Amino acid sequence: MFKINENYLKLPGSYLFSTIGKKVNAYAAAHPDKKIIRLGIGDVTQPLAPAVITALHGAVDEMARAETFRGYAPDLGYEFLRNAIAENDYKARGCDISPDEIFVSDGAKCDSGNIQEIFSVDNKIAVCDPVYPVYVDTNVMAGRTGVYDAGSETWSDVIYMPCRLENNFAPQLPKQTPDLIYLCFPNNPTGSTITKAQLQEWVDYANKVGAVIIYDAAYEAYISEEDVPHSIFECEGARACAIELHSFSKNAGFTGVRLGYTVIPKDLKCGDVSLHALWARRHGTKYNGAPYIVQRAGEAVYSEEGKAQLKQQVAYYMKNADYILKGLKDAGYTVSGGINAPYIWLKAPNGMNSWEFFDYLLENANVVGTPGSGFGPSGETYFRLTAFGSYENTIEAVDRIKSL
Ligand SMILES: Cc1ncc(COP(=O)(O)O)c(C=O)c1O
Repeated sequence: MFKINENYLKLPGSYLFSTIGKKVNAYAAAHPDKKIIRLGIGDVTQPLAPAVITALHGAVDEMARAETFRGYAPDLGYEFLRNAIAENDYKARGCDISPDEIFVSDGAKCDSGNIQEIFSVDNKIAVCDPVYPVYVDTNVMAGRTGVYDAGSETWSDVIYMPCRLENNFAPQLPKQTPDLIYLCFPNNPTGSTITKAQLQEWVDYANKVGAVIIYDAAYEAYISEEDVPHSIFECEGARACAIELHSFSKNAGFTGVRLGYTVIPKDLKCGDVSLHALWARRHGTKYNGAPYIVQRAGEAVYSEEGKAQLKQQVAYYMKNADYILKGLKDAGYTVSGGINAPYIWLKAPNGMNSWEFFDYLLENANVVGTPGSGFGPSGETYFRLTAFGSYENTIEAVDRIKSL
């Protein structure tokens, strides 16, 4: 008789976006005359940049001819794309990363979920709280997180690093020593960042205690401030302790196209075993590569035209972020994020908890956001708005909130 992976049964239901959907649908059905503005989900809305579209068309045409047709992609990704990544995302920033340390994939969600496979089940993980849920849930599936306590919504074997207003939404070095540390900056959901000096402290700490930092840089393109690092490899010593995850979803609107990459430096070792070799083995065994067409589209992201067009696209979303941030501040809200990230994180007013504020906003302003408590216990009483809507809707939503 077969048995299932019982770790899956330990997963608490993820009701966040389904509960939001149900509440919004019920409200819309009861009030068909109301225009509901959705600033909840972290998906982009702007079309792909013209340079990307041209590259996609060109690659499709190549696939139509026997002489230029491509089948399976190389395990690590096409060299043209890995070279463009190494040149633009690393060499241009003074980071020592070579193309053969880059693994092209279909996005950062899969990589952030799969990366834990190359580590022992005995490793202890540390995560920020609130957190992008994938890091914790995939460790639950692997049996690494211990027992769930429904009251505190925490796992017995996970080290939580609270990120709240009191610490500027930046995690402190944990008291208990972790083996794997998940960091994401600019952060989803809080929109916060840390400086290069702060990140250097994490790198030094990881090297001291023998931990690996899994650094999610999915929102790197939104950084506007000078002292905020774009890559953990800007820090001294990171090659010996860090893995970095990147996505093309938010910098280039590839949420529906699917492309990402993971960097594992060859210096990152456990004894004499290289993590690069383990991930290469895993990638080669379980993954057959991002499509040629999509990798050509990814290459276009780094063309001069592509860069200019995507800078404008990011600026479009950040204009929304700025409007939300300033508007809510003017209205007396305690607000953060929105400067180096497309997320605005606000404190629910008048002692409301996250869900109470969700209902209040839906009913009184017809605006949908995401309750902070859905991202972890320290997210309670906070609320996330995203800058990914249209400018017109964003203005209307903020003006409605201001006039409450
Ligand atoms: C922190 C973080 N990492 C990764 C992802 C997923 O990226 P991708 O679309 O490349 O899978 C998201 C998506 O929202 C995210 O917020």
